Amino acid sequence: MLVVIEQDYGALSREAARIAANALRQKPDLVLGLATGSTPVGFYRELAKLHREQGLDFSRVVTFNLDEYIGLDSSHPHSFHVFMQENFFRHVNVKPENIHIPDGTIRGDFDEYCEGYERSIRDAGGIDLQILGIGKDGHIGFNEPTSSLASRTRPKTLTRETLEANRSHFGKEERQPRAAITMGIGTILDAKKILLLGSGAEKARAVALAVEGPITASVSASALQLHRDATVLVDREAAVGLKHREYYETVVAMTRELTPERLW
Ligand code: PGA
Repeated sequence: MLVVIEQDYGALSREAARIAANALRQKPDLVLGLATGSTPVGFYRELAKLHREQGLDFSRVVTFNLDEYIGLDSSHPHSFHVFMQENFFRHVNVKPENIHIPDGTIRGDFDEYCEGYERSIRDAGGIDLQILGIGKDGHIGFNEPTSSLASRTRPKTLTRETLEANRSHFGKEERQPRAAITMGIGTILDAKKILLLGSGAEKARAVALAVEGPITASVSASALQLHRDATVLVDREAAVGLKHREYYETVVAMTRELTPERLW
């Protein structure tokens, strides 16, 4: 696991966009796994800027989002479909037919639907680069604590902590979805490269547990320790709980010198 510590949220967003843009330049038909939440907003803004100012081309990119709330249709203002349109897709040239986000309106046979989502990922050749945020409880996607580290795409009930963290997105009278369809941890680990973004002091504990704690289903992000090419990109505030910050900085400096391709 490579731990990259940036000064602040702006620097983190630019570095994440630089990594994704390099991946895209090397493979124009990149299969990109995408995340929602407040953390990747700056990353999407930077990618949109690269598209606008440098013509970064997304026309052959295929995307798969991690998750969607069950019960919200794709036009619901708080759906992840709308989030992705507003924050990313409408600013770049990804083809609508290349965009995949779980359908929150599925009724009945979830197994068949979720297997189909997994199949679409496989048919696209697998995810080349998966972007992740991290929850305060260490979740990735909506894989709440105790999710199997081998889990695949499936419906998942949200914890009270997650519901509270996302409560402010919903109006007082509005019903907040209590479950989601999410890629599993096993699905995420199949990505060829993983880039987890963590920003702010409220994520420091989860980041420390994910990077330096034991691999445990109690902290879903700790599963990234099993991945051969996972980068944890955090700002200084999110890094304060890490014991070996100085070492990580040395590793990044040496990597830049010896094997810069690891940092794309
Ligand atoms: P956030 O969410 O980026 O809005 O903090 C991260 C997550 O819950 O995965």
